[in-house]
Amino acid sequence: MMKIIIIAIDGFSSCGKSTLARQLAKELGYIYIDSGAMYRAVTLSALQNNLIGKDFFDEKQFIKKLPGISIKFELDNNFNPVTILNNKNVEDKIRNIEVSSYVSIISKLPQVREKMVALQRDMGKNKAIVMDGRDIGTVVFPEAEIKIFLTADLEIRAKRRYDELKAKNIKVDFDVIKANIIERDNIDRLRTNSPLKKAPDSIIIDNSNISKQEQLKIALAHAKKIINEG
Ligand code: DC
Repeated sequence: MMKIIIIAIDGFSSCGKSTLARQLAKELGYIYIDSGAMYRAVTLSALQNNLIGKDFFDEKQFIKKLPGISIKFELDNNFNPVTILNNKNVEDKIRNIEVSSYVSIISKLPQVREKMVALQRDMGKNKAIVMDGRDIGTVVFPEAEIKIFLTADLEIRAKRRYDELKAKNIKVDFDVIKANIIERDNIDRLRTNSPLKKAPDSIIIDNSNISKQEQLKIALAHAKKIINEG
C-alpha cells in the first residue's frame, strides 16, 4: 500500500521552492499549492484598495476588509494552478515588484496569517499535497511526513529572479531585485509571527550548485522512501 503524504517546502525568497514543489507534485500526482501566492494576492488587494503604498498603510481599514477577501486556486488549460482573488484571475499581477515590496509587511500581520493558515490546512485535509512557503513545515503542517528546507547563495537567487522577470519582459534592475530579496529575507526571518525557520526534522537542500533535475531527484528519493513504506 502506498502512503499518502504531505510535503512541506520552506526556504528563503527566490531559491526555487515553487519549481521544486511543482515538479514533485507532478511526479507524484499531488496537488501543488504556492502559499506565497496567497500572501501576494492579499497584498494585491490592499494595493488595489489604496490601503498600502509608499510611506502609508491603513492597517485598521485593511483588517476590517480582510474577512471579505476570497482567495483560491483554479487550474488553467495546461493544468497549471492560477491564483484567484475575489473571483478574478490575478496570477500575472501578483508577481511584480510592487507586490513583492509590500508582501512582507502584509504577511507579518497575525490576522492575515491566521486566515491563510486556516485556508492552507483546509487545502491539505486529504493530504496528497506539496505546499511551499516559509512556515509550512513549522506551523501549517508540523505533521508533514516530508519537510524540505531549500537554500541557495544570495547572488544566485537574485540572478535567477532577475532572469525570470526579464524573460517575462518585466523591466527590472538587478540591484533592486537583490535589495528586495535581502529585505524580504530579513523581515521573514525576524518577524514575531511564524518566522521563517528550519523545522528541526527537515531535510536541507542547498541548490546553489545543482541543477533542477538533481534537486528533484534528491527530493523525490526522500518522498518515495516514505510513500513506499506504506
Ligand atoms: O514565496 P514568495 O516569495 O512568493 O512569497 C511572498 C511573500 O509571502 C514572502 O516574502 C513572505 C510571505 N510568505 C509568508 O509569510 N509565509 C508563507 N508561507 C509564504 C510566503
